Order: sequence, then structure tokens, then C-alpha cells
Amino acid sequence: MRNSVDLLAVLSVLIAGAASPAVSAEHSGKVLLEERCGRCHAVSAGVKSPLGNAPNLWDILRSYPPDQLEFELAEGMGSKHREMPQIQFTSEEIASVQNYLAGE
Ligand code: HEC
Repeated sequence: MRNSVDLLAVLSVLIAGAASPAVSAEHSGKVLLEERCGRCHAVSAGVKSPLGNAPNLWDILRSYPPDQLEFELAEGMGSKHREMPQIQFTSEEIASVQNYLAGE
């Protein structure tokens, strides 16, 4: 019984994910960060964050070792800041964020 409930939960997450443009593979890492974090954080070099005490993500995420970045994005950066809900990234999304951060 419990397993079928879990399966339903997984399926509904997958269906919701497929329907949401935010997880489409065409989204670049920059757009993902802008959509999910840009309300508070600047996401490109040399830009000031909209929220005064939020660090520039271009600087801070690029300073993370690759393993840590991957872990943090997968686990939900939200756990770091009390003011926001937990935001988790799929492995494709993490790859595109890593691509973005490696470029420019
Ligand atoms: C509602 C506003 C808000 C949103 C949305 C938000 N952040 Fe933050 N974030 C903050 C604030 C404020 C701080 C600095 C204060 C703190 O660390 O509690 C911060 C700090 C951070 C830090 C530094 C933590 C540290 O250990 O120094 C990282 C990394 C981070 N955010 C990543 C993200 C990522 C990635 C996203 C999007 C997935 C995101 N944040 C979305 C407000 C936000």
C-alpha cells in the first residue's frame, strides 16, 4: 500500500515536471538561475543583487568545488536561507547551470 502511494507521488512529480516549462531541456543554466534565484540574487558577473544581503550567484557558485555545487543544487539551496522555500535542481538542470558557470 505504502509503495503505491510513493509511486503515485513520484509519477505526479514527473508529470508536473514534464508540463512545466521551467524544467525544459532548452532552458539555459542562466535562465534557470534567473527564474528561481533572480528575484533575490544577481546571476551574472558584476551585477548587484536585487536583495541587498543576497550574494551574487555568479561569484559564489563559481567559487564552489564542482562536487559541492552539484550536491547543493540537488539538495536544494533553500536549506541555506530561511526566507525561501527549498529549490531543487534535476541532474539535467545542474548540468546546464554548470555549463553556464563554466562559460563567459
Ligand atoms: C527569497 C530570496 C532568495 C531566493 C529566491 C534565493 N536566495 Fe539565495 N540567499 C538569499 C539571501 C538573503 C542570502 C544571504 C543570507 C543568508 O545566507 O541567509 C542568500 C544566500 C545564498 C547563498 C550563500 C550561502 C552561504 O553559505 O553563504 C547561496 C549559495 C545561495 N543563496 C544560492 C541560491 C540559489 C542557487 C537560489 C535559487 C535556486 C537562491 N539562492 C534563491 C535569498 C534568496
